Amino acid sequence: MMKIFTAYYIKDLELKNRIIMAPMCMYESDDQGFVKPFHLAHYPARAYGGVSLIIQEATAVTPNGRISGNDLGIWRDEHIEGLKSIVDNVHIAGAKMGIQLSHAGRKCSVQDAKIVAPSAIGYSERYKVPHALSIEEIKDIVESFKSAAIRAKKVGYDLIEVHAAHGYLINQFISPLANKREDIYGGNIANRARFLKEVLLAIKEVWDGPLTIRVSAEEYASDGHSVKETLEVLNEVKHLIDAVNVSTGGVIYAVPEVYEGYQLKAAETIKKAGFMVIGGGFIRNPHFIENALQEHKVDFMFLGRELLLNPYFVLRLAKKVKPELVIPAYRRSFD
Ligand SMILES: Cc1cc2nc3c(=O)[nH]c(=O)nc-3n(C[C@H](O)[C@H](O)[C@H](O)COP(=O)(O)O)c2cc1C
Repeated sequence: MMKIFTAYYIKDLELKNRIIMAPMCMYESDDQGFVKPFHLAHYPARAYGGVSLIIQEATAVTPNGRISGNDLGIWRDEHIEGLKSIVDNVHIAGAKMGIQLSHAGRKCSVQDAKIVAPSAIGYSERYKVPHALSIEEIKDIVESFKSAAIRAKKVGYDLIEVHAAHGYLINQFISPLANKREDIYGGNIANRARFLKEVLLAIKEVWDGPLTIRVSAEEYASDGHSVKETLEVLNEVKHLIDAVNVSTGGVIYAVPEVYEGYQLKAAETIKKAGFMVIGGGFIRNPHFIENALQEHKVDFMFLGRELLLNPYFVLRLAKKVKPELVIPAYRRSFD
């Protein structure tokens, strides 16, 4: 049997197969972070398409933690009802639902928002120079992640992922390219990982479900992190997380060479170091996924853009190799 279709667990969460929908911002929320009808069509469609877990797009824990003015938010109790509609509909469609909790830091492009970061260094000339966070302000953001986790639990998510990748706030703390602080949050790797650790600890006070983090394992800069340093960061929080979702880039502007599975070397290295790993990157081909699973490069494969154009990727494959997995309502049409 294809390993793709074997069930597996992240902590105690059973996933029916190894294909996970990657978090992808859709910029379809209103300007207050609320769910719109778009989300109620978009996410359940991928769930009917057969993925085992959907990780909802970066969802902001504060208004100025949004990447754009049309990101989803979870900074108010009023957000809970709409988010619950997404989760309930995804569950009905047979998939599990996670949420990626996020703060954009210096990469926030919301009009008139106060832009914050570990250090007063802009992402590029097109972005505002951020305000360097005080210790008090850092503690407030940690609390915002905790409050978001309380809401995520009320909504009924199956998993929380902390966005520590792509050059957003947590990644800005981790990276020597964006963090030039001289206090306990800057300098060596243990200090630069402190904010991530505090966020995870705060979430764990209120959330005992599966907890993953997304990291940028490679920063594509000679003075930035590679997998070796990323592993040092991960070792600081190993006891707090259940899996690592391995991505790359985004701290500085850099265009890597992209080919099918271009981020899998990093994923494999992290898996070999003893972490459960969700890997991917420009994946298009079921055989490629199957081989990566068979060769123990990843535990789960994430698919992003392929699922935007081809929401039924998993069902199409199941129809060929395991027809009983195709949901009954659709199966009838193949008989
Ligand atoms: C439209 C779009 C939005 C994205 N938004 C997010 C996001 O919210 N959080 C995140 O961690 N990655 C985000 N990503 C990155 C994807 O999760 C994924 O890592 C990337 O697209 C590579 O995988 P793919 O080649 O299968 O698409 C986004 C990618 C795209 C194309």
